[in-house]
Amino acid sequence: MCGIVGYIGPKQATTLLLEALRRMEYRGYDSAGIAVINGTGLKVRKAAGKLSNLEKQVAGDLPRGTVGIGHTRWATHGAPTTPNAHPHTDQSGRIALIHNGIIENSGSIRKALLKRGHTFTSETDTEVLAHLVGELYQGSLEEAVAAALREVDGAYGIAVICTEEPDVLVAARNGSPLIVGIGESERFVASDASPLLEHTRSVIYLDDGEMVILTRDGYRVRDLEVKHIDKPVNQIDWDLATIERGGYEHFMLKEICEQPESLANTLRGHLLEDEGTARVAGLNLTDDELMSVERIIITACGTSWHSGLIGEYMLEELARVPVEVEYASEFRYRNPVVNDRTLVVGISQSGETADTLAALREARRRGARTIGLVNVVGSTIAREVDGGTYLHAGPEVGVASTKAFTSQVAALALLTLRIGRLRNLSILQGRQFIQALTSLPAQIEQILSRTDELKVLAERFFTGNNALYLGRGVNFPVALEGALKLKEISYIHAEGYPAAEMKHGPIALIDENMPVVFIAPRDAVHSKIVSNIEEVKARGGKVLAICSEHDTEIERLADATFTIPQTLDLLTPMLTVVPLQLLSYYVAVRRGCNVDQPRNLAKSVTVE
Ligand code: G6P
Repeated sequence: MCGIVGYIGPKQATTLLLEALRRMEYRGYDSAGIAVINGTGLKVRKAAGKLSNLEKQVAGDLPRGTVGIGHTRWATHGAPTTPNAHPHTDQSGRIALIHNGIIENSGSIRKALLKRGHTFTSETDTEVLAHLVGELYQGSLEEAVAAALREVDGAYGIAVICTEEPDVLVAARNGSPLIVGIGESERFVASDASPLLEHTRSVIYLDDGEMVILTRDGYRVRDLEVKHIDKPVNQIDWDLATIERGGYEHFMLKEICEQPESLANTLRGHLLEDEGTARVAGLNLTDDELMSVERIIITACGTSWHSGLIGEYMLEELARVPVEVEYASEFRYRNPVVNDRTLVVGISQSGETADTLAALREARRRGARTIGLVNVVGSTIAREVDGGTYLHAGPEVGVASTKAFTSQVAALALLTLRIGRLRNLSILQGRQFIQALTSLPAQIEQILSRTDELKVLAERFFTGNNALYLGRGVNFPVALEGALKLKEISYIHAEGYPAAEMKHGPIALIDENMPVVFIAPRDAVHSKIVSNIEEVKARGGKVLAICSEHDTEIERLADATFTIPQTLDLLTPMLTVVPLQLLSYYVAVRRGCNVDQPRNLAKSVTVE
């Protein structure tokens, strides 16, 4: 969701900003722009569409200047056109501003500014903010920004520069992530750490309501009034190589193939095999506190919500605690029954998803303990929850989430072991679960060694514009995830459904043109799903089944199969999902789609 970057230092800003935007393009990619202070003037360049359009525009005529800001946009207010692209300038043309988020009262501020003679060139809320800062400017950019932000409602991460003060860059955050990079005589701000890594590993994570004033040699953090805030400088411990493509054609394929390692990293150091349990120190919950939990609510969005559904099966089955899984966007606006005996688990790859963050805040306000299962270290959710664990899956760049999903399910398995062993799970069951968990990375490796089979199946099955994914029990959420992956990156309409529920509706869609993907490993509901496959075959449907090895019954019925190794029923999702990720990848590549940056989507959705 919009990437913002700012630079002040000795180097030429334009090249640096463009490189930074390239690293953040996954956050939004419908238009891009930069502004640098050049002598005493402001040079603004913007272009609709991909970043490459902006790069083409500035090639041969790079605006010079050593302080600047850059933006890659995911449209909220106004279509993705060049006038709506950021940076936006104020009425006087002295101030340039970039913004990630939504200014909710921009309509009324715009009206007031119009009355006072302002004219606007875009439909954006951001231009309104730039004009407001300009109007309040009386010789101090810092004070003008603070004064303007005191008037706005909504979410923002902003960076602002002003020609009157060419040695200052001001940035502020409220609800949209912002990281400050501290280099040698240079300072950066960015929406995430990826563009900072080649310059510095020393970072400050700004919190909501905080502003930073950057100069080449210094920085100050304050609130919107005048209070100075002391912030710790953190060190980032992953390097650039981990976020580069490393020989793969797409980030998504790289990330799918990293799963043996990412999953092992999630589990590393947590499993206590002798005791048949897991150590999750970050939960910050004592045994007594965990025993007093009466109910668990899992809240998340998108793929993370699907992993939450799998968590529900695991936790209820093995820990015997009632679990509800709720879309964060719904939870935050209902009147949920939550008290201090409710444990609310937020799951998020980015740790910045606005709805998930708001749901967790609401849960806390109502007295619940909150924990986060988050991938991005230092992200807002990770910092705000009472406890939790990092996924350690490594940076995920492809917009469609893959390795974060398997790591989320693994983290939920750790939580299940931890709570389960306090309640219902025997030591033997715990050990068996751990043994199966530790075998998963090698089993995924086995699946990945057969990607050619999936390439062929992708070509053979997905020829039309529709597909149906059916699963039962713990593989019903996998059906949802398989369908989501397909629609996200190949634009084929796909639905995930509980296999038995199919007869109450989707069965009407089945004919010889409808590919039906069954997720049907040999588990407790195997015989039931076999009947569902029969029902589809009886209506001429084309069946591709993800099933266990040597399942002659399904092999006989289905038009094609892809087999997965044997594991415990509850852990099958971490295997069955991998061929589905690869299928959608190969279908999208064949259809010529932009796999890593699918249309209209964004990796980190920081608006509601
Ligand atoms: C976006 C992404 C999805 C992701 C969802 C939740 O929609 O495109 O891939 O699952 O956000 O993101 P989170 O970072 O909270 O897991």
